[in-house]
Amino acid sequence: MKKIIFVGGKGGVGKTTCASSIAFIHSKKNKVLLVSTDPAHSTSDLFDIKIKQQDELYKYSENLDIMEIDGEKEAELYLSKIKRQCNLMLSPVIMGEIQGQLNKAKNSPGTYESSIFEKINKIITGNQSYDYIIFDTAPTGHTLHLINLPKSVNIWMNTLIKKRRKILMLKNMKFKKKDRIEDDRVLDILEKRRDNLVKISEILGNPKIVSFYFVMNPEKLSFLETKRGIKSLEGYGIKVDKIIINRVYPDSIDEFWQEQKNNQQKFIEFIRIEFSGR
Ligand SMILES: Nc1ncnc2c1ncn2[C@@H]1O[C@H](COP(=O)(O)OP(=O)(O)OP(=O)(O)O)[C@@H](O)[C@H]1O
Ligand SMILES: [Mg+2]
Repeated sequence: MKKIIFVGGKGGVGKTTCASSIAFIHSKKNKVLLVSTDPAHSTSDLFDIKIKQQDELYKYSENLDIMEIDGEKEAELYLSKIKRQCNLMLSPVIMGEIQGQLNKAKNSPGTYESSIFEKINKIITGNQSYDYIIFDTAPTGHTLHLINLPKSVNIWMNTLIKKRRKILMLKNMKFKKKDRIEDDRVLDILEKRRDNLVKISEILGNPKIVSFYFVMNPEKLSFLETKRGIKSLEGYGIKVDKIIINRVYPDSIDEFWQEQKNNQQKFIEFIRIEFSGR
């Protein structure tokens, strides 16, 4: 894996257009996976393809695969997985109470982001053979918080694993059994989850692998939004590597638009200075 690129920015600035263009250009020399989380399926519209189902890898060309993920469906799958795992670990009485809470959780804040994050992790760890994985739409707010989470969750998971091992040992001693601790399903789930979190935090925490690009338009409102967006990302310890200025008037332009183009050029110079170093 050479690089993972998240292409973010406010609504309608051209994220899908830019992410698709970047993926297309890189696919000339590298193996690329383009992943979209856009519920409007703009990526398949742009490439003029039909992706039949969630998780399907659409082979657009020799080097370019495209995947569209559905946030709503991911949230459902995520919650049913939690239910299955709770079923394994908890008594039916407690499970009955939790069931109701989990049913309500689908629409609660954070569930959508957590499930998308889980999915992003899965895509990254399961598709290491690509040179580039490009995500159309960068995770925002809550999801970004989750990028920093694996480190602390790892400590918590290790404590849970130790506790589970201790319980199994005590159970063996009490009932004079010789059950193999390694065969315990709960321990297996906890250890797999911990290993995944370690793997993903090593990848996402490596700025040589992960890049954040921010798309903006050369006008005042987009500039101000971008400035705030970058500040918010930096608040999560994430550096924006590149800023893409989209919707720039072409060089050959009608005289009618020339004044607009001159003003835009002046503004682009200003943006370059403001965001220099990227
Ligand atoms: N450089 C450009 N020149 C002309 N049209 C453009 C350019 N970039 C994007 N567009 C058009 O602008 C519209 C919005 O672009 P796009 O869908 O890429 O934005 P987006 O940021 O992904 O939007 P959303 O936030 O809704 O996902 C599309 O119709 C697209 O074709
Ligand atoms: Mg889009």
